[in-house]
Amino acid sequence: MFCLHVFDGSKTFGGKQSDVLLKALSIDDSYKRLGMALAAMNQVPSYVRKKFCFATRIILVVNHANFAAQALYRRAGYRDIGPRRQGKSGTQFIYEFTLKEFKVLDADCSR
Ligand SMILES: CC(C)(COP(=O)(O)OP(=O)(O)OC[C@H]1O[C@@H](n2cnc3c(N)ncnc32)[C@H](O)[C@@H]1OP(=O)(O)O)[C@@H](O)C(=O)NCCC(=O)NCCS
Repeated sequence: MFCLHVFDGSKTFGGKQSDVLLKALSIDDSYKRLGMALAAMNQVPSYVRKKFCFATRIILVVNHANFAAQALYRRAGYRDIGPRRQGKSGTQFIYEFTLKEFKVLDADCSR
């Protein structure tokens, strides 16, 4: 499960109107380490590109101590863009996936 926030959703994290913020990615304990999160994350860029034509970037925030999620995001092609912020559980990193070069053939651009 995860949520996508558009328009002002990413502002809190220094994002722009053209960013899509991915939040709350979570896999049920009994299905962890089966490749489900990676499979889902690998589909997000094409989904976002098709549905949100304005989007140039997907951003997300990950806790400094969440090594599992950081490894997952790196494997899915995201990179740490540098800024740090303080969350409830300490320092958070901001990761991005750039969509500019990511082409899809059948965009429906419903938003
Ligand atoms: C992080 C989370 C989404 C990963 O889901 P998952 O379906 O188990 O992940 P996958 O099986 O697709 O793993 C893909 C890769 O991520 C990394 N990874 C996933 N879980 C890991 C763990 N416990 N420790 C280290 N690396 C891990 C590995 O690189 C893994 O590849 P590999 O299995 O070939 O080594 C899941 O552990 C979760 O729901 N955690 C709690 C919520 C959370 O922290 N969400 C992220 C908020 S930013």
